[in-house]
Amino acid sequence: MCGIVGFTGQRAASGILLAGLRKLEYRGYDSAGIALDAGNGGSLSVLRRPGQIAFLEDAMDLPDSNMPQSATCGIGHTRWATHGPPTEQNAHPHTSQNGLFAIVHNGIIENYAQIRSILSAKGYVFRSDTDSEVIAHLIEDAYKGDFEEAVSMMLEQVQGTYGILALSSLHPGTLIAVRKGSPITVGICRNETLIASDVSAIIGHTDQVIFLDDDDILVATPEDFHITAWKTGPVSRPTTTVDWEPGAIEKGGHPHFMLKEIYEQPEAIENTLRGRLIEADGTSKLAGMQMDARELANIDRFCIAACGTSYYAGLVGKLYLEAFADLPVDVQQAAEFRDRNPIIQRNTCMLAISQSGETADTLAALREAARKGATTLGICNVVGSTIAREAGRGVYLHAGPEIGVASTKAFSCQVTVLAMLAILLGRGRRLGREAGQTMVKQLADLPDICRRVIDASDTIRRVAARYTEMHSCFYLGRGYMFPVALEGALKLKEISYIHAEGYHAAELKHGPIALLDKSVPVVALAPDTPGVEKTLANMQECRARSAPVLAVVTAGRRHGADCADDWIEIPPCPAFLTPIPATIAMQLLAYHIADLRGCPIDKPRNLAKSVTVE
Ligand code: M6R
Repeated sequence: MCGIVGFTGQRAASGILLAGLRKLEYRGYDSAGIALDAGNGGSLSVLRRPGQIAFLEDAMDLPDSNMPQSATCGIGHTRWATHGPPTEQNAHPHTSQNGLFAIVHNGIIENYAQIRSILSAKGYVFRSDTDSEVIAHLIEDAYKGDFEEAVSMMLEQVQGTYGILALSSLHPGTLIAVRKGSPITVGICRNETLIASDVSAIIGHTDQVIFLDDDDILVATPEDFHITAWKTGPVSRPTTTVDWEPGAIEKGGHPHFMLKEIYEQPEAIENTLRGRLIEADGTSKLAGMQMDARELANIDRFCIAACGTSYYAGLVGKLYLEAFADLPVDVQQAAEFRDRNPIIQRNTCMLAISQSGETADTLAALREAARKGATTLGICNVVGSTIAREAGRGVYLHAGPEIGVASTKAFSCQVTVLAMLAILLGRGRRLGREAGQTMVKQLADLPDICRRVIDASDTIRRVAARYTEMHSCFYLGRGYMFPVALEGALKLKEISYIHAEGYHAAELKHGPIALLDKSVPVVALAPDTPGVEKTLANMQECRARSAPVLAVVTAGRRHGADCADDWIEIPPCPAFLTPIPATIAMQLLAYHIADLRGCPIDKPRNLAKSVTVE
């Protein structure tokens, strides 16, 4: 949830840390801080500010900041509050009582209250409401001259999830990082080491990274680092080359990351498809699944677990796998999956879908399924992320970094992967070669269809302008359009703060229709897909209750002027792929409404990009 970054080297650390925090700000942005070691063995220098990184940068520039600008070792943090409001005293880094140790933490220390009372009894004074502060005091309490040993002893005391970076003025130039459930990535550079909660803060410095495993302890100096598996001994972890261009995490002239990422979708889908379609055989090749034909044939049920937008992609995937591969699919919100003691049978394959690959509930569901003996697959975007690694096999999206808190291109690429998966599995079952060939060709045409939706962005903005004042609205769809209705409503509420509900078009009359009147618009997803005639009838029901109807239809298919007040047209598209262009239209609608309302689109209140707490 939070972003953490550390640097040790020969150059001034503060600028590098602040630049890193800016790259990580999408992970949490309610307060930020840095700690620097002046190298004189005295107290560490700490500066923290509530609000955006910009406030911290401004404070750093003030002559009275008293921060050692030439310090070459430090740690930084951007916070998404869990324990205690976003104030200066709750912002990280937290220092130990003697000021000689500082930590930044991502995750939750579950037994912090108990540790706090033990430390208070020993005379430690707490200055924040956070669960994290105990970490700094525990390290001080355990310290007998060996920093690594003190960190290791601190780990004996804490329960929960953590990615922690620790700094001590008693060990100049040394940073210690540990992880359990919260990612830590190490960037390997010449004569300096960068450590961060994700690669965004590292690319631009190096493309060579190492991902720590749970229970790893990393000790880094400018020249060197070593990793120890806690309680086990020294280990080496593989080096991964990250192929993201440094510019990929810039806005590239767009006002918001979200808009940039909406516009990137045709190219992102091309990257997802690249090298994976086999037109001659009417199938796909998903090498990362590492399954031969026999293993694929043995799967007799899918279980999909995911959260938010990834969950809605999973709902589309269920329709694909059932229709094209004749396989029963159970899709669950990941938190529910774990809590419900799910049934995993011998040939159940568990699919964990996650853009970030770090979502705590999805990870927990994956682990539960693995524990019960399921074959596990990950569909992730972030290479080397925890879910990707723990699933062991799966399919990467190759969508490039998604920075906007509102997920956009990940959805399109997840659905694209799920379509390829269904074709692959279907071809081993009852999907004929010709039907497979047709679908493969249709997938290859998908990026162009998406380009045409994006070309209509200005038209969608003009429609959006008529809906900026609404307080509440419904999104309706059925079949392939039901997940789109859910996703459209999620996009609108998270970035515009307008209450929006996604509903199955048939369900409206079972209750929510009571809420309709002229102030509650309905977005009706009615492009040419099976069941559209019934959705048209539902639109009439809404109009009869005076609700303004904004219809999303296939170009040239307005079904009569009395059906709707406004129209968004999407290009003709094979029914099974329609969720993608229709969702892109809904992303643009939400984006333009939020933009016209002046909302902070890339940093919506209370949200964080990656939800690494359960
Ligand atoms: O990284 P993940 O795909 O696992 O994230 C899941 C959700 O947290 C995410 O999709 C969230 O709902 C987005 N803010 C939606 O735009």
